[in-house]
Amino acid sequence: MKIIMLGAPGAGKGTQAKKIADQFQIPHISTGDIFRANIKEGTELGRKAKEYMDQGLLVPDSLTLELIMDRFQNPDCANGYVLDGFPRTIPQAEALTEALKEQGESIDFAIDVEVPDENIISRMSGRRACLACGATYHIVHIPTKKEGVCDRCGEGLVLREDDKPETVKKRLDVYHEQTQPLIDYYAGQKKLVRVDGTQEMEEVFQAIVKILGA
Ligand code: AP5
Ligand code: MG
Ligand code: ZN
Repeated sequence: MKIIMLGAPGAGKGTQAKKIADQFQIPHISTGDIFRANIKEGTELGRKAKEYMDQGLLVPDSLTLELIMDRFQNPDCANGYVLDGFPRTIPQAEALTEALKEQGESIDFAIDVEVPDENIISRMSGRRACLACGATYHIVHIPTKKEGVCDRCGEGLVLREDDKPETVKKRLDVYHEQTQPLIDYYAGQKKLVRVDGTQEMEEVFQAIVKILGA
């Protein structure tokens, strides 16, 4: 199963992608998580990506594509994957379509998690992330058992640098301009499905499971 998660920043792509990955035993591949891990480790890629991410801008396609094509080589991708945050531009989507076509394959579903901009800012300001294992929480909607500590791995949680309200506004602008066109792209390929992302986390997941036929 090859799945793409589409949706605005803060729509819940990462939250749902993790649940899908667990259910279907496929890897969850988040380009944002990979960039953040590189920033934390102080790699060259991390240093370059940070310049863009902190401003709410997209990392250039060339860097992103190199990273993701390399990730696909990993044997854990043999049975598919759930992509979260990639593709994010039309050139990235075209590159993915081409790479899969060379292997006689294609994606199964592009799931658009729909959440209006008004809901996004409050979600982001309450988000807490674990940079160690990638888990995401919300101080009101999805709290941890112990405040500030990851339920999964016990590491301390952080507020992401790009979750400041000004930067969130910029990310939403960038989303509408560069990523939203992917909705038409995947509708044109007959791969697009939509879910209402304003529901409770578990309801969103049940809607997705129904679509995936699990
Ligand atoms: P990335 O990490 O992908 O960020 P994003 O797309 O902006 O998405 P988020 O991770 O902010 O939101 P999400 O949809 O995953 O929501 P979440 O589940 O956390 O990318 C960051 C940056 O990296 C980009 O800006 C760019 O610079 C760069 N980048 C990454 N990929 C790139 C690419 N392909 N090309 C170029 N640049 C790239 O949920 C949000 C909050 O809401 C959480 O607190 C969560 O707990 C809560 N929540 C989730 N679901 C619900 C619910 N149903 N009800 C209530 N609260 C909920
Ligand atoms: Mg995410
Ligand atoms: Zn953790």
